[in-house]
Amino acid sequence: MNRNYNEKPSAESIAAVKRARNQAEAENRPVRILFVCLGNICRSPAAEGIMREITKDMPDDKRPELDSAGFYGGHAGDLPDRRMRHAAFGRGLHLDHRSRVIRTSDFEWFDLIIGMDDRNIDDLHDAAPSPESESRIARMSDFAVHYPEADSIPDPYWEGAAGFEIVLNLLEDACSELKKHI
Ligand code: 4NP
Repeated sequence: MNRNYNEKPSAESIAAVKRARNQAEAENRPVRILFVCLGNICRSPAAEGIMREITKDMPDDKRPELDSAGFYGGHAGDLPDRRMRHAAFGRGLHLDHRSRVIRTSDFEWFDLIIGMDDRNIDDLHDAAPSPESESRIARMSDFAVHYPEADSIPDPYWEGAAGFEIVLNLLEDACSELKKHI
């Protein structure tokens, strides 16, 4: 796909966030955001943890409801990967999410469903039970405004320690941009 490196977040992502916000406002509640990756032990629990940390200063009635999930159930019930917990701890983050598989009901409950890479986005579109729920899907890297060339949050699972730091850099950037729009 041709990407205009200067356009982040894309109009499409902005529209998805705006729809999410409108839905939450109509129901007089905080916006609900689900972060999704493959194993739900590296990228998406880190995204959830970063977002939780940076939204702590928001008023209770505005602070988003956050969760994360994955498509692969092999780590269900597990804490985040030790390497990710270690890297996050180095940035003052304590990650204690327990891995879970995404459910069909997540597509109804969450206003915004954010995938990390092409595979996650494709899987989300395949799993979405309705066109309306598909419109809730967004791409995390699209919010990483300081990394204009990044078109995914790369899977760090098979990589060395540096991969986890890259993921956290991207996620911190994307979360702070996302926060501006919710
Ligand atoms: P994540 O990383 O999708 O960022 O949680 C992975 C974790 C586990 C596996 C793959 C990716 N796995 O194949 O077990």
